[in-house]
Amino acid sequence: MSRPDPHSYTDFSQGRIQGMDLDLKVDFNKSAISGRAVYSLSAGASGPLDLDTRDLTIKRAFDGEGGELEFEVAAPDTVLGSRLRVQLPAGTESFSVEFSTSPTASALQWLEPNQTAGGKHPYLFSQCQAIHARSVIPCQDSPLARFTFTARVTVPEELTVVMAAAPGEAASAAESGYRVFSFEMPQSIPSYLFAFAVGNLVSQDLGPRSRVYTEPEMLEKSAWEFADVDKMLLAAEEIFGPYLWDRFDFLVMPPSFPYGGMENPRLTFLTPTLLAGDRSLVNVLAHELAHSWTGNLVTNATIDDFWLNEGFTVWAERRILEKSDGSEAKALSAAIGRNGLMAAMKSFGEGSPFTKLKTDGKGKDPDEFYSLVPYEKGFLFVALLEEVVGLEKFDAFVKKYIEHFAFTSITTAEFEEFLEAELPGAGAQIGAHDWIHKPDLPENAPKFSSERLEKLQGLGRGWSDGARPDLDEARGWSPEHWQIFLQAMPRVLPEADCAWLDKNFHLTEQGNCEILSNWLIIAASSGYEPVYDRIRSFLAEVGRMKYLKPLYTTLYENEATRPMAREIFAGSAESYHPIAKGGIERILAR
Ligand code: BES
Ligand code: ZN
Repeated sequence: MSRPDPHSYTDFSQGRIQGMDLDLKVDFNKSAISGRAVYSLSAGASGPLDLDTRDLTIKRAFDGEGGELEFEVAAPDTVLGSRLRVQLPAGTESFSVEFSTSPTASALQWLEPNQTAGGKHPYLFSQCQAIHARSVIPCQDSPLARFTFTARVTVPEELTVVMAAAPGEAASAAESGYRVFSFEMPQSIPSYLFAFAVGNLVSQDLGPRSRVYTEPEMLEKSAWEFADVDKMLLAAEEIFGPYLWDRFDFLVMPPSFPYGGMENPRLTFLTPTLLAGDRSLVNVLAHELAHSWTGNLVTNATIDDFWLNEGFTVWAERRILEKSDGSEAKALSAAIGRNGLMAAMKSFGEGSPFTKLKTDGKGKDPDEFYSLVPYEKGFLFVALLEEVVGLEKFDAFVKKYIEHFAFTSITTAEFEEFLEAELPGAGAQIGAHDWIHKPDLPENAPKFSSERLEKLQGLGRGWSDGARPDLDEARGWSPEHWQIFLQAMPRVLPEADCAWLDKNFHLTEQGNCEILSNWLIIAASSGYEPVYDRIRSFLAEVGRMKYLKPLYTTLYENEATRPMAREIFAGSAESYHPIAKGGIERILAR
């Protein structure tokens, strides 16, 4: 037995699944999907084949000729789920499994109509990263296992299915009142990139290769906010080389989507909290787009190599931003990132293994150790490499890295080896080994600075000594300026200061969620009661963990607001995605 990924039962010595044909039927009454998966193997296999499942009911398994196969579902492991072992007769090239999902499937969120913009139709979406695909389909749920697939999804006829794949025609189903949507994914993907959504969805073209999907009520706003997607696509191709996924479409989700964005190939998912009305949060779209290369073409081998996905992607995101908005915008973004990194490192504690780039997550739930470290320490590592190598040489390296490893999943060691082969000595020059394998932030981390940045941080840090922004000037600050300023402020302010800020800048009525969440955290730590209603409504309507986690943590850590945290959660838990719900439960159990 050889299991190359500690977060999966995948064992390639038993066989390798390279193709899937899926038939899925979505039942909104039961909050369940029933389905059949036909698997094709890369070579004839025989004997046991282990697949990952979580909370799935496995009904039957068949060989390629329709003969029933023996299988066994092991008792669940809390992190990994249940191993499904199918017994394959000698020379098996194809087999199938019939299964159904549980209403509590960790990848799926079933929304009531009142949780959507339209309010009339139910909605369903998946979120498989890191290890939730196994709650939707039995699979080799490791990023090391890549496969192509075709799929047919049957849903009530008034609803539309979108999938991270090329759409085919929609047709009436055999059963009246239902429609079938067909898809094909010609490029091979790891299971965590399998994704779909069902709802009342419409779309609008934004460029030759891009289209936005969302509910009709959000279409105009979404199309406006992300109108520059084609420019981004061109900028990203300049950095990485040609875009190999044909189309770059995206879906603007209901507010309970637990992430800012998810790079599902051919169909990125985005939180509606990006719809600030001023295009100020489009960096998230740039980020998910950049994953088309760093992540989706060159994929982390396991979750312990996650920094390869996110570190390079944040670096690329800021390069794209620099192209459109200039170097100061990049410096501000890097400064906001560094604040987040410092906060994450502080909460893990000095010397914590979770502050390493290459982690050892064996036995641990990836959702539990998810943090900004792989993003922002990873970014600083890549930026430092760029700095010492020089932009031109480094860009050539990045292009070659993508080309060399496209459509494969690589370990940190393979990256280190490639780096040494292509840029000999560069790793040693920056201390790459310590960066990757030791905790904390090395001394030689690059610093991004600008006059504006210094001034804003000075104002925030000097608050207790009486520093105050000029009112007219501050009213002209961009959202990034506000974030820098608020993040530099003391956490606890006197009531009069909170009142002054709110009176002059109307922070509680902010439509930009980045500004709003930074303000609500200060106001909550300060026990400033006039914002409590806004905290309640914000936590009730938004499901993005980036906002939920720090706010719940702040409320919970303060004795006075601890009951409020529990009470808000009791009222909202059922409307959060299972992943978000689990995350908040852990905070409230500390
Ligand atoms: N792939 C991630 C989201 C993710 C990571 C989901 C791990 C599940 C497990 C995505 O690309 C991401 O990083 N999103 C960020 C965007 C940001 C860094 C610009 C987010 O959701 O906030
Ligand atoms: Zn990412």
